Amino acid sequence: MQETRVGIVGAGKMGITHCGSFMRVESARVVSACDPDRSKLAVIRSSEWPEVEYYEGHFSPEYIIPEVYTDLTEMLLKSPIDAVIVSTPNVTHYEIVKESLKAGKHVLVEKPAATTYEHALELASIARDKGLVLSVGQCWRFHPHIQYAREIVGSGIIGEIVKFKGFGIHESYVPSSSWFSRKELSGGGALIDMGIHPIDTLRYVLGKVQISHVAGSYITAFGSYDVEDVGVALMTMENGAPGIVEFGWANPHTDGVESSIQIFGTKGYLRVFPTSLKLTVAEKKGEFFPKICDWYLTRELYIRQARHFIECIESGVENINSGIDNTETMRIIDALYRSNNEKRVVFLNEYRTI
Ligand SMILES: NC(=O)c1ccc[n+]([C@@H]2O[C@H](COP(=O)([O-])OP(=O)(O)OC[C@H]3O[C@@H](n4cnc5c(N)ncnc54)[C@H](O)[C@@H]3O)[C@@H](O)[C@H]2O)c1
Repeated sequence: MQETRVGIVGAGKMGITHCGSFMRVESARVVSACDPDRSKLAVIRSSEWPEVEYYEGHFSPEYIIPEVYTDLTEMLLKSPIDAVIVSTPNVTHYEIVKESLKAGKHVLVEKPAATTYEHALELASIARDKGLVLSVGQCWRFHPHIQYAREIVGSGIIGEIVKFKGFGIHESYVPSSSWFSRKELSGGGALIDMGIHPIDTLRYVLGKVQISHVAGSYITAFGSYDVEDVGVALMTMENGAPGIVEFGWANPHTDGVESSIQIFGTKGYLRVFPTSLKLTVAEKKGEFFPKICDWYLTRELYIRQARHFIECIESGVENINSGIDNTETMRIIDALYRSNNEKRVVFLNEYRTI
């Protein structure tokens, strides 16, 4: 059987999550891990992994990782790996992904792929030119409810899309003591950290529907840091119809859990988390509660993402979360920051495309 050898870069919370996920994919083998912090390497190599926050379930390691490194260049040179999984602070993604692709490795990088659209574009171009798989950890694309929503919208059953809503908000989380709230390490606050989830999820569910222009508005309200933690994104589709995405940390109330979305069509309404479909047929209204799966944010999401990445490498299946597709999400994020900073509506065609 073909085996894909994987190296994990960044042995923090998501590094452990990815390690546990790839250890559960039959044809993948986690061969090495890299982190400048030796204490993190000691933990990822031990049999005592900490409980990983934000989703249910405890990953225990299935085997010991044979090699650890404190330097990426050394790992790329010495470790016999085919693919690199990047789970480091956001601003480091661009250089780590670029170096890994240039060394001929397939890459799965955590969201955001980079902290600017231009960098995301460059990474996608390198991967395409080298014929390598570049995937971005927009994990919600692998949730069965989100995939169901994409099928429903694609089928046309809810008619033409006239409005959407999305939510990417943490009710209690204030990352004041971590790199997430330091712009020089994160590249931004709740928009690039949380808003990116519903924005990407909506793009996936809406399929061919394109965003024409955006207006972003945000403030810093809940901590002493230099990034945003309360915000709203207004996104206008090419048919002129509006959409809205709320993002934030530590907001007193959220109207929806992470990546919950609502789509309003001329013939029906669809929401995910909780998931239901409302249709009007022959002037009669009905609401359906499809039985798909009963889990929300669990390790299963990351295992599905890992399995798909390996399938892309080994079987060349169409990449659900490709770096090229992700440039569009990054274009919207970049435009929203520009919109807030320049206090104007930003048209996506102000940017060059791949
Ligand atoms: N998809 C999701 O559900 C999800 C959830 C949380 C975080 N994330 C993303 O995952 C990434 C990592 O977040 P985290 O919560 O695991 O952070 P973390 O702080 O727990 O871990 C980051 C690790 O990277 C290491 N590191 C720093 N610079 C490095 C470098 N140059 N090379 C190698 N290692 C380096 C640090 O020592 C640390 O161990 C971020 O991009 C974040 O946005 C995604």
